[in-house]
Formats: sequence, structure tokens, C-alpha cells
Amino acid sequence: MKGVILHGGHGTRLRPLTHTGPKQLIPVANKPISQYVLEDLRDSGMQDIAIILGDIMPEKVKNYYGDGSRFGINITYIYQEKPGGIAQAVGLTEDFIKDSAFVVYLGDNLLKGGTSKFVQEFQKKNFDAMIMLCKVENPQQFGVAEFDKNGKLVKLIEKPKKPPSNYALTGVYFFKPAIFKMIKQLKPSWRGELEITEAIQLLIDAGYKVGYKIVEGWWKDTGTVEDIIEANILILDELESKIEGTVEDKTSLQGRVSIGKNAFIKKGALIRGPVIVGENTTIENEVYIGPYTSIGNSVKIKRGEIENSIIMDNCTIEITTKIIDSIIGANSEIITNQKGPKGHRLVVGESSKIVF
Ligand code: DAU
Repeated sequence: MKGVILHGGHGTRLRPLTHTGPKQLIPVANKPISQYVLEDLRDSGMQDIAIILGDIMPEKVKNYYGDGSRFGINITYIYQEKPGGIAQAVGLTEDFIKDSAFVVYLGDNLLKGGTSKFVQEFQKKNFDAMIMLCKVENPQQFGVAEFDKNGKLVKLIEKPKKPPSNYALTGVYFFKPAIFKMIKQLKPSWRGELEITEAIQLLIDAGYKVGYKIVEGWWKDTGTVEDIIEANILILDELESKIEGTVEDKTSLQGRVSIGKNAFIKKGALIRGPVIVGENTTIENEVYIGPYTSIGNSVKIKRGEIENSIIMDNCTIEITTKIIDSIIGANSEIITNQKGPKGHRLVVGESSKIVF
């Protein structure tokens, strides 16, 4: 089987973070979201993986993943000039897929249990397509499945106003090449995109075998800042303690904390896990890092308190207040001199300097 990762799209809901790169490269627990996807496909046995690049700095994706050898896979890059929809992106992979079965994985989706079990299921059953569904509270925001009274999948509707069920389509799809024929028949939807839900509907209507599986554990679509903060919590919930750097006073670490190589935690700092600290990062005395915080590589936290946040590589933080529920883009500097309100919630784009 082959794998396809969608790495394009608009990313508008994540601005300013997506002014300088695609949303799928935003790190969660110090690893880009799409790397979880890539490793999941690899661990499910896929050797040949295509990454569909969009128009937001695609070279950043190529620089990061290279030819895939660092991850033990072969990567083929395919360009999608404009975000014309998931089905359009999938349609571009026909020459890469040839006659193989394949998995399409949206590069901003995280799935706790991974796909390995489902890959086996798809290979065993003689399905032409298989979708993964997850029970959600807000089905209006997703593609939604409708079943008949025998539990047979009969319809898929994209972002319905009146959802026929609470079962949302997750961003993992299993296909055989029959899907390409259906994609060619699509017309742009109300949002101007070729919808993969409509292509699968065409398979159902034409009598192809379309199966479904219900996701166990959590699934997270990381389309918004809130989603990314929540994904960070979900991943850090499974973090294991590991100390590779220097911690001057061990009592300053509470709960599960991972400290990267050459990181330096000075005496008098307090880190309450789950927290991950990257390589070459320094945390000065009297700094407080609270639960569910990810701090990248080569960061300097000189003063202040941080909780439930993501601080990307090469940032400097020197604050007299507290940062909570925040995402700070790489190479940024946050400096405060005044005592302000109890906590600041910030979303800061890459290479910014904020002083207040
Ligand atoms: O996350 C699951 C949902 O994903 C499904 O429930 C929906 O049925 C499906 O349409 C999709 O909905 P979204 O509105 O969330 O899709 P979004 O535009 O966020 O794109 C999903 C991923 O695909 C994202 O990683 C960007 C990428 N993408 C998207 C488009 C439109 C591309 O690579 N190219 C594109 O043209």
C-alpha cells in the first residue's frame, strides 16, 4: 500500500502562524503535526509516501522531510498550485499510485490509536474505499455520515446544517484507484472545492463497496489555535519523563517532564509536568513552567511564568507576567516590563518582537 499526506490548504484560521509556513509544520510536543502522520503511515508498513505541497512555503516541507531517508521511507513531492479541495489534491496522485491501494491522511489530523489496525482491515476486506468515523459533539463542522436502519453507510454530507448523525469523517481515507474515476466527475462545491466526500458518495451510488470504521481513542483536526493547544495537551498526556540535559536541582521538576540534550534548568526554576523542553534550551531561576507546555530547541526563558502553551524554537521570553494558552512562533522575543493582568493569551507569528 502507498500513503498520501495532504500538506497544502488555506491555513487562514491559523494566521499569523501560517504566514511563514504551512499549518501542518506547526509543532505539537516539539514535533510537526505532519510528522506524527508520516510516522504513523510508516509504522503501518508504508514505504512509498507522496506529500502534496500547497502554495504556502512548500520549500519548508521539502527541507524538513527531504527524500524521507531520515524517516526510513521514500517521499515523492507533488505540487498543488491552489487549494482546490482534498479531492483535487488526491486526483494529482494518480500517476504515483498507479494500481496500488492507498491511504490518504490529512496532514493536520492526529489519531491516537494510529492506522495500522485499519490498514490490515482494509487489506483483508474487499472494500473499494473505507472511511474512518468519529463520534463528535459538533458534526456541522465536518463531513458527516448517514446510515440506513441496518447500519449501512448510505450518504456523506460535507458540513451539513442539519447533521443526520454525530459521526464525522476523520481525515484518514482508504482507497483503491476506482476513486480517480469519481474525482474526474466532480464539480466545485459551494466552497469552491472538489470535495472528497462527494467522490466517495459517487462510489457508493455506483455500487462500489465502501466500508467504515469507528475510531477508538481520540482524533483531533488541528484547524484552529484552540485545536492545536488541545492537541498539545493530548500528546503531552502520554509524555514519558526523560532527562538528557542538566537540571541543577532535581526538586524543581514535578510530574512527567522531558528535558532535551544540552538543555539547562537552573536552580530555583520550577517545572510542573507534563512539560517537554527541547535541546539547548535554558530556563533561568525563578521561572515557572506549568502543565501542558512545550518549549522548543534553543529557547531562552529568562523570566516569567508559562502554562498550557507552545513556545517554538529560538525564542526568548523575559516577562514580568504569565503566558497562558498561547502559541509563540519560532525566533520570537517577548519582553514585558510592567505588571499586567494575571495572564496573557498570545498567538505570535514567527520572528516577532513584542515588548510591553
Ligand atoms: O478533518 C476532517 C475533515 O477534513 C472532514 O470531516 C471533512 O469531510 C473534510 O472535508 C475536511 O474538512 P476541512 O474543512 O477541515 O478541510 P481543510 O480545508 O482544513 O483541509 C484538510 C487538510 O487537507 C489540511 O491538512 C489541508 C489539506 N488540503 C486542503 C485543501 C482544501 C490540501 O492539501 N489541499 C487542499 O486543496
